[in-house]
Amino acid sequence: MELKITLLPGDGIGPEVIAQAVKCLQAVEETFNHQFTYTTALIGAAAIYKTGDPLPDSTIELCKNSDAVLFGAIGAPEFDNNPDAKIRPEDGLFRLRNELGVFANIRPVAVFPTLIKKSPLKEAVLRGTDFVIYRELTSGIYCGEKFLSPDGSYATDLSKYTESEISRITHLAFKAARKRRKKLTLIDKSNVLETSRLWRRVVKRIAESYPDVELECIYLHNAIMQMILNPSRFDVILAANLFGDIISDQASVIGGSIGLLPSASIGTDKAMFEPIHGSYPQAQGKDIANPIAAILSAAMLLQHYGLEEESRAVVSAVNKSFKKNIVTPDINPKSKYGTNNVGDFIASNIVDTDDSLNM
Ligand code: IPM
Ligand code: MN
Repeated sequence: MELKITLLPGDGIGPEVIAQAVKCLQAVEETFNHQFTYTTALIGAAAIYKTGDPLPDSTIELCKNSDAVLFGAIGAPEFDNNPDAKIRPEDGLFRLRNELGVFANIRPVAVFPTLIKKSPLKEAVLRGTDFVIYRELTSGIYCGEKFLSPDGSYATDLSKYTESEISRITHLAFKAARKRRKKLTLIDKSNVLETSRLWRRVVKRIAESYPDVELECIYLHNAIMQMILNPSRFDVILAANLFGDIISDQASVIGGSIGLLPSASIGTDKAMFEPIHGSYPQAQGKDIANPIAAILSAAMLLQHYGLEEESRAVVSAVNKSFKKNIVTPDINPKSKYGTNNVGDFIASNIVDTDDSLNM
């Protein structure tokens, strides 16, 4: 298969972890005889420094003309520490998501058996944890109108959703549930928010077309407790943009490190793959960042294009790195292995096929 892949390494540890994902994709090309081409483009703070724009037109153009986008991370302390900055790295990512129309962000959360002791949760609580979050990605409070009064004393963010924005991701989530354990949990705040009430109404109506899937609707504040007390009760989780962002960060620590979780952002046409972690500037250039989330994002890319065996081969190699304890210091503080060692080990072990990402 031929695939045109745009690489957007972005900021902080982004370039380091994307380099490891590319090593793995190249190993897949060799082992399975595919031809992937890679073009790198600017986004985020890196793009602001060079062009003044967090998402230059050339980047949009390139992404639109490729099959898939592999994205690293975005954000830099200089902007985080300055609420008055007019141009922000993150705006590049929001605009790109909208330009590509990738409205569903899919975040699988599975606990790797070899890492069970790394989790802050007890083993008995963790057992059987395997769920996937469907986060709406191109609307909601992230994308509504923002306002700051001229004297700086008053601000608003508009949270808005339309029925069709809710419906398109809801269908994807129900279809995913059908292929899994047939349970869908809508997480909302419908006791307070009008947008949440719209979500509940639309999701309940759509549920009638999926009678084989059990639907439960729970409040966000309850859901985050349940995720710690009884994470195995979840199968497919559906949530609005901001809620999905927050619960997926909580979900990521269940597995032992935020550096492990990948995601796929899909729409009707284009697809983008990105780790759920941020740019972690404190680790930049130190060769300590965990490349697994980026590598598993590449595995999701392969799966999205029907390369199931290839995707499983990547996941198997990742599992092997855990079994052999070839891991970065976030997993084992005494580890002598860095980002590059882990990437090299995984890339050179892309052969077997016994495990899969369950999405
Ligand atoms: C994510 C990130 C982004 C988001 C940030 C970097 C703007 O946290 O992809 O989850 O909030 O969407
Ligand atoms: Mn996030």
